[in-house]
Amino acid sequence: MKKGYVIAIDGPAASGKSTTAKLLAARLEYVYIDSGAMYRACALAALQNKIGLQERKKIKSMLDQIDIQIKYHPKGNKIILNGEDVSKRIRKADITKLSSEIAVIDIVRKKMVELQRKIGKDGAVIMDGRDIGTVVFPNADFKFFMIADIKTRAKRRWLEAKEKGEDLSLESIEKELRWRDENDANRKISPLKRAKDAIDIDTSDMSISEQVDFLYKIINQGK
Ligand code: CDP
Repeated sequence: MKKGYVIAIDGPAASGKSTTAKLLAARLEYVYIDSGAMYRACALAALQNKIGLQERKKIKSMLDQIDIQIKYHPKGNKIILNGEDVSKRIRKADITKLSSEIAVIDIVRKKMVELQRKIGKDGAVIMDGRDIGTVVFPNADFKFFMIADIKTRAKRRWLEAKEKGEDLSLESIEKELRWRDENDANRKISPLKRAKDAIDIDTSDMSISEQVDFLYKIINQGK
């Protein structure tokens, strides 16, 4: 029997998905799964093994052996790749770009979707990504599509980077976000797309607590 709802949150990079999902999961006592972190872990595995994105056979055997664990941690989930904590490493710029590139590969998506469905099968889960409401959980109990204007998103990422001591220009971040949105929305398999039955939320002028409250109220009303 399901323990709770399956909640899908999709949208472009830095639209507020993971911040909202994390806090909402804490409030609902649900599990939070950042599906993007799984694509990031795949990208890192390819890099560590020096596998090029054209080397399909090598990618296949990498996927056959890959072990990605998402461990709950009060300050943010830990991502464990083949036994190693890669939570910080996968947020670096090189992996951000490579994750979007590796996410176009059919066998990569197949494997990740399989893992995501396994994690979500008992419900009481919030998963964010690009294809959660369209492909991973087309029957999710609640689907949200989160957007924010590009300037706001770039500023958010710039502030995050600054807090981590990374000195990146606002322009370079905006450029990276535009490139990734384009790449994610135009790929053939499972592109970034709003599910027809998703509830829209534009977080450009919303505070984090407003975002969380917005979703919480809807979920609390039930189906
Ligand atoms: O956190 P941010 O929005 O920057 O990105 P992310 O959610 O960590 O996702 C990194 C990349 O993984 C995205 O740019 C997508 O290319 C890919 N991704 C995907 O294809 N499908 C998902 N369900 C989640 C992420």
